[in-house]
Amino acid sequence: MSLTGPSKSKPSVAIIGGGLCGLGVGWRLAAAGCAVDLFERDKVGKSASWAAAGMLAANVEAESGEEMLLALDLESQRQWPAFATELSAHTGIDLGYRDEGTIVVAIDRDDAEALRFTYDYQKTQGLDIEWMTGGQARRLEPHLSPGVTAAVHSTLDHQVDNRQLVVALEKACRGAGAVIHEDTPVTAVDISGHKVKGVETATGTYRADVVLMAAGAWSYDIDGLPPMARPPVRPLKGQMLGLRMDPRAPIVDHVVWGPGIYIVPRRSGHLILGATVEDKGFDPDMTAGGVFRLLEAAWEALPQIEELPLDEMWVGFRPTSRDDAPILGPTSVEGLVMATGHHRNGILLAPITIDGVSDFILNGILDPALTPFSINRFYDETKSETGIRA
Ligand code: GLY
Repeated sequence: MSLTGPSKSKPSVAIIGGGLCGLGVGWRLAAAGCAVDLFERDKVGKSASWAAAGMLAANVEAESGEEMLLALDLESQRQWPAFATELSAHTGIDLGYRDEGTIVVAIDRDDAEALRFTYDYQKTQGLDIEWMTGGQARRLEPHLSPGVTAAVHSTLDHQVDNRQLVVALEKACRGAGAVIHEDTPVTAVDISGHKVKGVETATGTYRADVVLMAAGAWSYDIDGLPPMARPPVRPLKGQMLGLRMDPRAPIVDHVVWGPGIYIVPRRSGHLILGATVEDKGFDPDMTAGGVFRLLEAAWEALPQIEELPLDEMWVGFRPTSRDDAPILGPTSVEGLVMATGHHRNGILLAPITIDGVSDFILNGILDPALTPFSINRFYDETKSETGIRA
């Protein structure tokens, strides 16, 4: 693995993928004086970055066996407020950052026991979360079901409007001078003598000193990569629903998690319900069963959703790596850099990914927080995978 980036003069960069990682790194690099071409197979910011719910839930999503990932999540969560302030000031776009926090609820005794088990583990990690009775949770959110028996409250797990985020990143990226090629899939990465030369598309070949792989769930399918530089990423389907609240009288202000559901209120009144987790490749269909389970689980936590108009339904594809952790930084091919495989945490990990990967491309120095997430962990027997869930 080469840990040395092309730092002498400003490299030219081809970015594969116009999600928040590609747009964010494109913004930073173009602003630093690099010639940046970004290639998006469809329209920028309309895949996982658009489909997500925008939860910044490092604490309540922490799971046993993922301690290295937890450290990365917490560091990126710490960076979020400054990142949001900077991007919002730079673009004039409100990112809808909300800091009311997150409540995880248990509906029956089995849920409460499972929640307690997870809570006890999270406390061993020093996380700043609080156990509550159902009554205490209802004092924070009066419309929670009377059936809620217990809850965990996290004041640090905030949310951002991810759709506003990608609109802002696109504006910043274009404004800095990056050239964005939409409807332009990259068919292959050009590599010669273990060094990238550029990318190939249907409309031509583009030369570049650095190629950034930020193609999310599509990252595995791009030709030209040697086996040890092909990211083991697959699509993990999620079905989601959007309900409409009266923004002057929202039924909920916190992000609420219940068994099989999260509920994310936007200031606009949009209320997001998510999400199924389905290993079905790029299957784009909403299903009756998926919608039924989301509505049922949301109704059990927050019965008042029953009255709300249903505005929108959509499917997204999480880019999920073999160990559920992201794939970041340099590879065994000189000039080929990864920012993919973020699984459920793409929005949360945006600041540390964008700034860490950009710094590496500009200065050749990799933030030590990113080093455990090299693609080499999948291929180098002296390294272990970061997340234990297979
Ligand atoms: N981050 C939420 C999800 O993947 O559904």
